Amino acid sequence: MGTKKELQQEVVNYYQDTGLDYREWSPSFNMHFGYYKFLMNPFHREPMLEEMNHLVFKHLHISEKENVILDLGCGLAAPCRTFAKKYPDKKITGITIVPWQIEQANLLNIAADLQNNIQLILGDYTDLPFEDNSADRVYALESCCHSEGRDKAAFIKEMMRVLKPGQRFVIVDGFIKKEPQEFGPLVRYCYNQIIKGWALPSFPHLYLFKKKLLEEGAEEIQIKDLSYRVAPSVLHAPFVVLYFFLKKLLQGEKLNSVRLGHLKACWLGLILGMHRRKFSYCLVTGIKKK
Ligand SMILES: C[S@@+](CC[C@H](N)C(=O)[O-])C[C@H]1O[C@@H](n2cnc3c(N)ncnc32)[C@H](O)[C@@H]1O
Repeated sequence: MGTKKELQQEVVNYYQDTGLDYREWSPSFNMHFGYYKFLMNPFHREPMLEEMNHLVFKHLHISEKENVILDLGCGLAAPCRTFAKKYPDKKITGITIVPWQIEQANLLNIAADLQNNIQLILGDYTDLPFEDNSADRVYALESCCHSEGRDKAAFIKEMMRVLKPGQRFVIVDGFIKKEPQEFGPLVRYCYNQIIKGWALPSFPHLYLFKKKLLEEGAEEIQIKDLSYRVAPSVLHAPFVVLYFFLKKLLQGEKLNSVRLGHLKACWLGLILGMHRRKFSYCLVTGIKKK
């Protein structure tokens, strides 16, 4: 495993190389899985991806009072744009460590005429340029997995530092529930290929993650297992990957090892996701103790 700087450079390179490939998954660049709600059409991916954004906002319990809302690991800011449309009187700040994402996301925000509602900052969510106790709400959607360690200590410490006492956070991500050494050979292979392909040092470990949240002053922690809710969108991944791969092949475009690793990880995610005793996709909420 590399140093923190090396890991972060790997994240930057990964998102620079695969950045536009995400358009195949989501035309509005929702870089996460979707949430299936009863009566939705499971074949329509984008509404499920959008629904995940709405689920995060619902669990943030937004009222008129909250003004400082942070998206830690904002990608191309699709969740920020959904937020800005839903709460036009509020502002949201997105943070990403990838300069290319800031440039592209700003263009997308302008195209959606939401540039005045969304501020994007190039930065590291383990070293945020914000005062202690300054944020009213904080969320991280499929982004804390890029932080070091299975407990994601540096990410949690920083998130809790900037959050105001008594205020709420929401984290959505994939979580392992056992140590990878305890996985059988097939699941361990998939796990290792996925973390390599998606530039993750490891997935967060649910037990260690919750313990660290408690140590850093979180309370009222609730964990919702969304694995079945995301399953319909996860099932899209192999088809999207196959279609994308064949399209690039026919166009004669050569994919480099980073892009190929990303596609492979999307395929293998399905296998890992089926091992429910080892892996779950969860929404974690809580508040910072007063
Ligand atoms: C899978 S994308 C999710 C993006 C967005 N939340 C979404 O759902 O569309 C993960 C994001 O985390 C960001 N990220 C990873 N490590 C980071 C760090 N140390 N500081 C800030 N952002 C980081 C990446 O740049 C990327 O934008």
